[in-house]
Amino acid sequence: MSSTSSWAPSPPCPPRALYDVPAPAKLNLFLHITGRRPDGYHLLQSVFMLIDWADTLHLQRRPGGHISREDLNGDAPALPEHDLVVRAAQALQQATGCTWGAHIALDKRIPQEAGMGGGSSDAASCLLALNRLWGLRLPLPQLMTIGLQLGADVPFFLGGHHAWVEGIGEQLQPVPLPPARFLVLKPPSGVATPDIFRHPALQRDCTLADRHDFLALDAQALYQYGHNSLQAVAQQLCPDIGWGLHWLQQQGLPGRMTGSGSALFAPLANETDIDLGTLPPGWQAKICRNLSAHPLQA
Ligand code: C5P
Repeated sequence: MSSTSSWAPSPPCPPRALYDVPAPAKLNLFLHITGRRPDGYHLLQSVFMLIDWADTLHLQRRPGGHISREDLNGDAPALPEHDLVVRAAQALQQATGCTWGAHIALDKRIPQEAGMGGGSSDAASCLLALNRLWGLRLPLPQLMTIGLQLGADVPFFLGGHHAWVEGIGEQLQPVPLPPARFLVLKPPSGVATPDIFRHPALQRDCTLADRHDFLALDAQALYQYGHNSLQAVAQQLCPDIGWGLHWLQQQGLPGRMTGSGSALFAPLANETDIDLGTLPPGWQAKICRNLSAHPLQA
């Protein structure tokens, strides 16, 4: 009779490549700055929502430790070493002593300097994919610690669900959100996140909101709750934001900025039909749906 160990399942062999790895964008339904830490990072309360506007990563495991990045449509950061996917891969190597390398091809669709979390989402999807490709089996809390060092929004994308977010972005509580459609607008100009956070006019003392009050709202009120504390300063630095908010108002839509901008969004009632023809050239507009879960979780 065979020993039981010979019948024990062998650990699954990690794949050598993962293609079509999605990295979805987020919208901040509201974003309240409630204080500032001694290291300068801001304390916030926000609801982060996953939407169906996404980048795509294709990854191949390579021997030798080198991390290379290919920009498939010319919209990724010009220098690979500035790209958060490269920094994520290197951080994972450093944290684990892993000697594998990788080639990462990035199809960038989420606009940059938009407040939609594209770079952070790419980094999170890269960490999740390389954890498999390199056979590391790091648990999620450890990936989140690595992710937080890359950027305050990375843990949210690793978490994989809409979330009530506190701290600097690392305290996450899943929240259910009803299915909804949103018009998302991206002006041609963007704003650098640090310029907004360091601005002297930034309001940093919002009163604390209560998650249960938020969750008790009906769908319409839920998607118009609170405000974005970064919007007034962003509007000063980037006049396109004010123009876009006015345009949305003219369409009868309650517009708001997401994250540190410059993208704007407005919830759409089911029957709403929008004429995008009056937007000037250079503006991107997309009708998005919120996701029921992160595609990598599914
Ligand atoms: O972490 P991330 O790279 O997204 O942040 C970019 C910059 O935004 C930080 O260097 C910091 O100046 C500012 N920031 C902040 N408080 C946060 C998130 C970001 O002050 N919660």
